[in-house]
Amino acid sequence: MYILGLTSFAHEATCALIKDGQLKFLIEEERLNREKHTWKYPANAIRECLKREGITINDVAHITFFWVPKKEIVDNLAHFLKYFPASLNLLAAKSGGNELKFLERVRLMSSIGRSIQQQFDLPHTPQVHFVEHHLCHAASAFFVSGFREAAILTADGRGESASTVMCVGRENHIEKIREIKVPHSLGHFYAAITEYLGFKPFFDEWKVMGMSAYGKDTFVKIFEDMILLNEDGGYHLNLKYFGFHTHGQARWVSDYLIEKLGPKRERTREYDQRHFDVAFGLQRVIEKTGVHLCRALHQTTKLSNLCLTGGVVLNCLMNKKIIESTPFKDVFIQPIANDAGAALGSALYHYHQNLKRPQSSVFEHVYHGPQFSDEDIENVLRAKGVHYYKSENVARDTARHIADEKIVGWFQGRMEAGPRALGNRSIVVSPLHAGMKDRLNARVKKREHFRPFAPSVQEERAKEFFRMPRDFKSPYMILVGEVLEEKRSVIPAVTHADGTARVHTVSKKVNPRYWELIDEFAKITGVPVIINTSFNENEPIVCTPKDAVECFLRTEFDVLAIGNFLVTKEG
Ligand SMILES: [Fe+2]
Repeated sequence: MYILGLTSFAHEATCALIKDGQLKFLIEEERLNREKHTWKYPANAIRECLKREGITINDVAHITFFWVPKKEIVDNLAHFLKYFPASLNLLAAKSGGNELKFLERVRLMSSIGRSIQQQFDLPHTPQVHFVEHHLCHAASAFFVSGFREAAILTADGRGESASTVMCVGRENHIEKIREIKVPHSLGHFYAAITEYLGFKPFFDEWKVMGMSAYGKDTFVKIFEDMILLNEDGGYHLNLKYFGFHTHGQARWVSDYLIEKLGPKRERTREYDQRHFDVAFGLQRVIEKTGVHLCRALHQTTKLSNLCLTGGVVLNCLMNKKIIESTPFKDVFIQPIANDAGAALGSALYHYHQNLKRPQSSVFEHVYHGPQFSDEDIENVLRAKGVHYYKSENVARDTARHIADEKIVGWFQGRMEAGPRALGNRSIVVSPLHAGMKDRLNARVKKREHFRPFAPSVQEERAKEFFRMPRDFKSPYMILVGEVLEEKRSVIPAVTHADGTARVHTVSKKVNPRYWELIDEFAKITGVPVIINTSFNENEPIVCTPKDAVECFLRTEFDVLAIGNFLVTKEG
């Protein structure tokens, strides 16, 4: 039985295709339409999922959607009335992290069936099962966690009205036990400070997390007044600091916040210590709140397993604190924690909860996108007229280039789903010299100096370099560890200012070719660690060989390892 799960008209338009509860494909529309974080109807992603699986829309038994637009209207009436007449501004404000206004977005969501009908020229509007947003997130984690029962925490900007939800999952059933509604939202809190610091909310939260390592505790007390932890295990925002509850994205923070923290940073202005201290204060209270929520969830459920998901759990510093400071024995963090994962979750929820099918799959990797044969790749290389050769051992040849301090594009196998490149659409360089970070930034990534680059390490040798929270593996780069003091000078290019690194542990079983690449690098240098950053340049991660070659030609990469081919710039 095929189920097609969709996210659209909000962050990360996505199509996920499951068959009998197993994920077959998950593709974000941005990878195909090349608009970063696109919200648009995922026509390309749907077409690609069906084509790759060799089926048509008529083979799909059910279509599911990651949101219940009617619920959003009903649930928000109370909010609207409570803040009336200031809340009238919400009708005019942009909504859902994009340029759509509220009513337009709700109309588009409600008529998703008609969009599908039009795309495939169907005689009737197909039935669409709308699934509550946070239950989609919860399902995307629990049903593939391998746990028979678990406590579940989901946290994001917002769903229809909830921003933080606690659930219990048992077998094929998820039960909601508590929810916190907007305007009280960890995601919106983080977005508000992201905007205050001169970045783009819902896009640049990574930057703020990176900045926090350079900050001091100057503003922690003020931040502790912005988010108040309730004795019952919940939290609420002190709204005198914010403006988004009445003005949406047009006014994230209030004059009171500016009075307390100083003026906003203009986008084009340089950074000073105050900005780093603001990021530090925010990060500390987010971590504290995450731990507070999970402790309460444990106390209520007494369960030993925890599932985490929702966009807020992309905060890998918070995840470290949760693992270290709560009593849960095992933790599964869904790596596609953003709304792309909600597309999958809507399909899984329908399959298990509504259709009552038993738990059937365990999430083992993120390689759920398209792949391309050597023949496909060579056709592109020929058409582009680049200088290339076919390698007998692409891992060994590429490792030599990395050891020679070259910047290498690495394009292999199926594209990753989710926000992280994990060794199939990656840029890989040597971590052995501190200067590599600046070189990579100057030539390709153009990132701010305070953003760290992350290491991939052979899973079985991770302990030689990193201290992970409770020795957890980190196959999805969603958890930070500490670089061992004696190794910081060995791999300086991946050691962040606070001594941490966002580690990617690579398993030979899950990604043998990427593991071999690191192994060949270790044979040359003695170090089983390479820098891994996403294969892109201010654009979505590359998807096709054409995207990869064009990015390679446009930027200052030295080498492209694509399938079994090595492409160089010198002819
Ligand atoms: Fe979400």
